[in-house]
Order: sequence, then C-alpha cells, then structure tokens
Amino acid sequence: MSDKKIPFFDYARLYLDERQDLLKVINDIGERGAYIMQKDLAEFEKKLSSYTNSKFAVGVGNATDGLELAWLAIGLKKGDEVIISTHTMTATASAIITAGGTPVPVDIGNDGLIDPDAITAAITKNTVGISPTQLNGRTCNMDKIMQIANSHGLCVVEDAAQALGSKFKGYSAGTFGDAGSFSFFPAKVLGALGDGGGIVTSSEKLFEKIFQLHDHGRDTNGVLQSWGRNSRLDNLQAAILNMKFTKYHKVIARRREIAKQYHDQLSSLEQLDLPPAPNENSDHFDVFQNYELQADKRDLLKDFLLQNGIGTLIQWGGKAIHQLEVLGFNSTLPRADSFFERCIMLPINMFITDNDISYICEKICHFYEQVKNK
Ligand SMILES: Cc1ncc(COP(=O)(O)O)c(C=O)c1O
Repeated sequence: MSDKKIPFFDYARLYLDERQDLLKVINDIGERGAYIMQKDLAEFEKKLSSYTNSKFAVGVGNATDGLELAWLAIGLKKGDEVIISTHTMTATASAIITAGGTPVPVDIGNDGLIDPDAITAAITKNTVGISPTQLNGRTCNMDKIMQIANSHGLCVVEDAAQALGSKFKGYSAGTFGDAGSFSFFPAKVLGALGDGGGIVTSSEKLFEKIFQLHDHGRDTNGVLQSWGRNSRLDNLQAAILNMKFTKYHKVIARRREIAKQYHDQLSSLEQLDLPPAPNENSDHFDVFQNYELQADKRDLLKDFLLQNGIGTLIQWGGKAIHQLEVLGFNSTLPRADSFFERCIMLPINMFITDNDISYICEKICHFYEQVKNK
C-alpha cells in the first residue's frame, strides 16, 4: 500500500478549503434568520437564469425533483414514452416514472452521450419527449437532437445535472429544450453543502407551473392556485452557491486544465480511449464534471490504482439503465454494453494538484508496462 492518498473526492475539503468564506455566509444567514425563500434564493435564481441565458430559473430541492417537476408541468400521461440515454443516472428515468410516463433507454455514441440516430430509431406513436443527459460536463450535439424533437413534435427536458457552464455552439446546457435541470450536489462542479437543484426554462407558462408545483401550489405572489409539493432550494444553500458562483469561472478553468494534463500525459497509451480534449472540437465547451475514460483491463487497473492510493469511480455502480434488471430493464445496447465493460473515472476536482495528476498518469503507464511484460 502507498503512503500517497488521492481520494476520488474529498467531501470535508469542500468545507475546509473555503471555511472562512463559508462561515461568513452561514453567520449572515443565521443573524438574519433567512432560511426559506429569501433574497439570497431570489439572487441565486437570477444568477442562474442570466448565467445560462434563459428567461427563468427556479431553485429546487435537487436535480431529480427538477426533472420530475418539469415533466409534471409539461403534463406527462400514463403510457407516454420519453427517450433517454442509457448512460445516465437512474434519476433521469425515475423522474419520468414518478411523473407518470415511461423512460425508454437508447444507445450511446463513442463519446458516451446519447446517439441521435438511436433516438430516431426508438420513436413510436407513444413517444412524447426526449431527455438527453449532458453527461460528464459535455453538452450533446443539440442541433441534431432539437431537429429530431421539432420534426416529431417532441418535448425536450435536459438532464443538465452534470453540466452547469457547459456549452454547445455557444449556447448553455439546459437551454435548448423546454427546460433543463441542474444539480448542486456537493461533488458537482458547482456544489452546495447538501442537496440542491435548479431548473431553467424560457417558457413563462412552464415557469409558472413549475413554480407552483415546487411551492405547495402557490404562485410567485404566494397565492394558492393548485395542488403542489415542497421542493424549494434552501436559502442557506442558495447563499452558499451565490458565494461560490463568484469563483465559478476559476473552477471551470482548473477542471479544463486538469483534463488537458490527463490528455497530454495519457494519450499515447493505446489501451485507453480518452474523452475529447478541452479544445478538440470548437462546437463543444466542456466543464469536465467527470474525467471518464475507457480502459483495457479496467478492473485490474482500478485495483492497481487503489493500491497506489488513487481513488477512482465506475459511474452508476457499473450499470447502464438498460442493464438494470432490478428496475425491470433487460436489453442489449451494443455500444453501451462495451463502454460499461471499460469505463472508469479518474479524480478531477479543485483539490488535486499538478503533481497528483503526474503521479496518477505515471501509475497508469506503469500498470500497462507491467501487464504488457506478463
Ligand atoms: C446525470 C445526473 N442526473 C441526475 C442527477 C441527480 O441529481 P440530484 O442528486 O441533485 O437529484 C445526477 C446526480 O448525480 C446526475 O449525475
């Protein structure tokens, strides 16, 4: 076992590294007694809508609620099918289920994102929508997806949980379709000290419905209009996110720098398929929520890195949606099936140093040298 320790993510450092700034925010909220739907939340919603260039934003309890509220507001009915990527969190699918519809997982392209041709092939007379996942901080080719949606009259709710700040052709993730949902789970690129989410939309009608649904059926004036529930973003979390938003451009720049270093140091290894490098395709601006690659002998590599103090993660516990028999799925999707035999994520966050990256890359090179000589 190595003395060196590079955890996949260090939750305590999320607090410790910004302790002074965070304590100021917490103290300010406490002194004002400003816990629910206060000015900090309104400020955060304004920031989120202007940052993404959408007309409206609603802070919600988490991204899963955001997705579900969007589908409820759209009016999903029993038997309605929504096409999703099979490479996503169960949340994309469960939000459709809990809103009353049926998720239909389809195959991915070489970059791990939903394959537009697979979307077209899965459309039936029951299809009402598409919920593309802007995976790992990369926005899908939304030209193609919106073209399919528009030509078939389908709604689009983007699962942008991993993608705040990511862009396709200059437009922000979350803003192409009817609505987009972001997550502020602590390990996310913009992470709160707890759960949090935000929905953006440019449709006033959807905004009003989502707003009512998330606050007990009350409209923006607090007047009861319908049944609803409670899924509000805590004012304290909103205040923390406001503070973090001021440094967000630095977080994105650092993540892109880490991705570049991984790319520069690993791209000569033929045993690996790396994600696109930060400036590889000018259509895409990626924020690298994750650095997910495909690796030969993936499980042995994971063990070897762990022995050397390096934490890695296999996304979704190693199963794509269509492989989740426990949830009633059981099919084969060739590209996703082979992707999930080889995928692994390396640490990428604000805590790892350039030296850490070199150490991780050296160990990966060393691993493939070793196995080659066996
Ligand atoms: C792709 C994707 N969708 C949805 C979610 C759910 O987000 P939340 O935990 O905020 O509900 C996540 C969170 O990990 C995610 O990565």
